[in-house]
Amino acid sequence: MSNLKSLVYVSSATRNLSQAEIDHLLLSARERNEKYNVTGVLMYIGGNFMQCIEGTVDNVELIYEIIKANSLHYGLIQLIYRPIECRDFKDWEMAYCTKEKTVSVAPYNHEDILSSKLGTSSFKKTPSRILLHSFWRSNSA
Ligand SMILES: Cc1cc2nc3c(=O)[nH]c(=O)nc-3n(C[C@H](O)[C@H](O)[C@H](O)COP(=O)(O)O)c2cc1C
Repeated sequence: MSNLKSLVYVSSATRNLSQAEIDHLLLSARERNEKYNVTGVLMYIGGNFMQCIEGTVDNVELIYEIIKANSLHYGLIQLIYRPIECRDFKDWEMAYCTKEKTVSVAPYNHEDILSSKLGTSSFKKTPSRILLHSFWRSNSA
């Protein structure tokens, strides 16, 4: 039995965030996530976030505490917190997907992140992937 967990939450941005603020957030998030071997995806659409973080129990809980304490967002609702056998986003310290028109430091295509193009041999419809996918599809910028 692996010690891995996947956590997904939604939240709302406190205000309109500038690209510089998002870039800063992503840079420091990726640095910390790499240190704690946490992977995942952050989506930002129409002023709302959905994020998946995955890693060992201790590290996911540590990172989630840091995320909760950040005043750039509020109203966090935890949607998924479940044990997983393997990571959905193992290659991403924190992939970022947005429909905002601005250019990000790392504008990944959400199809690449949610589909089998990630390099996993079979695309498994895990609860986290399904949730992120529907968040992406049901929100307009
Ligand atoms: C929506 C959102 C997602 C975040 N995701 C992560 C994350 O995945 N990993 C992490 O370590 N911190 C994450 N954070 C926290 C920020 O990266 C971090 O607290 C912040 O950039 C620290 O910046 P400061 O020290 O300049 O305030 C997140 C914050 C927000 C608002």
